[in-house]
Amino acid sequence: MFANIDYYAGDPILGLMDKFVADPNPNKVNLGIGIYYDENGQLPVLDCVKTAEQRIANPIAPRPYLPMAGLPGHRQACQDLLFGKDAQILQQGRVATIATLGGSGALKVGAEFLHEWFPQSKCYVSDPTWSNHIAIFEGCDIEVGSYPYYDKASSSIKFDEMIDFVKKLKKQDVLLLHPCCHNPTGMDLTQQQWDTLLEVIKQHELIPFMDIAYQGFGEDMDSDAYAIRKAVDMGLPVFVSNSYSKNLSLYGERVGGLSIVCPTADEAERVFGQLNFVVRRIYTSPPAHGGHVVDIVMNDDKLYQQWVNEVYSMRDRIKAMRLKLKSILETELADFDYNFDYITRQNGMFSFTGLTTEQVERLQSEFGVYLVSNSRMCMAGLNVNNVDYVAQAMATVLKG
Ligand code: LMR
Repeated sequence: MFANIDYYAGDPILGLMDKFVADPNPNKVNLGIGIYYDENGQLPVLDCVKTAEQRIANPIAPRPYLPMAGLPGHRQACQDLLFGKDAQILQQGRVATIATLGGSGALKVGAEFLHEWFPQSKCYVSDPTWSNHIAIFEGCDIEVGSYPYYDKASSSIKFDEMIDFVKKLKKQDVLLLHPCCHNPTGMDLTQQQWDTLLEVIKQHELIPFMDIAYQGFGEDMDSDAYAIRKAVDMGLPVFVSNSYSKNLSLYGERVGGLSIVCPTADEAERVFGQLNFVVRRIYTSPPAHGGHVVDIVMNDDKLYQQWVNEVYSMRDRIKAMRLKLKSILETELADFDYNFDYITRQNGMFSFTGLTTEQVERLQSEFGVYLVSNSRMCMAGLNVNNVDYVAQAMATVLKG
């Protein structure tokens, strides 16, 4: 009966994690999946989260279903963080927000909604992008194309090509964008480039879908949301998926949000209703625990400030690792014609190293250093104890 069902080749990022765990090499380093590890190589539990956990720790408390859209405090937290506490659109009730199962869940619900209500729309993702973007939209029967984004040779953004391409898209086509810490390249648009792009989006009546999974890891909470807030100021009907996996270190709790900014409060109410309906048809309502943590941390001034500081210290540690890796590589490969400036020009958790598939494979088989096959390195897996080892391994494969 199931003999003709295709085998699943596995996910390029999650599959790598399994391979890493099975690797007996005592020096192995996991720089594949986008997870922040602390300076001791451990997955941190943030102090603000520990406090929140103590406040909710009651194992015999009743467990009712949450509303389809999740906890009101979770939804409010998403809106405040993305649009700014005092944003007019929030006072006007023009944003439909639901709590979701991480950023992936937000993308899925958003894509289902688009498929249902904008069936003619195609979705365009950056070349390259996070592989699951394509999988999620295609999984909702939406045709996916890609727009020019990253030039490997110069480690920079092909902005003019991108703009020319976007100008040719059809009204209500969806443009999937990364407001900060682009995954996988780490190369973000400047604010001026965002202004230009959003103007083109407005003129051509496209739908910007902003996927923000690393808020706080780029510059700061507000600057990282620049593109979202600018799009709102320009009156665009923006979709935003956000994730708390990385910035609250709550990966397994699956907490995120989907927000759709609408022209009027009445439209927001209709959209909100349809998002609830999508959720009901897939999983009814989100789990409670992570939602309570988000609600407590984000809606308590003291805990919120503590959280922001904790995110910034993760951000700063990653930046320090970028500097260190760059400096070792520059020393080791001083006699070669390589330029490692890209390492510190890139933002967030990832560095797109430009290594070939063969070089990535060598790093894995000879040194137990795991990068995604497209050459993406998770900088948050580096620490003072392994950065020399990784740099030496990289230098060896780059020497050929
Ligand atoms: C990543 O890009 O590594 C993370 O977002 C984890 C994932 O789900 O792929």
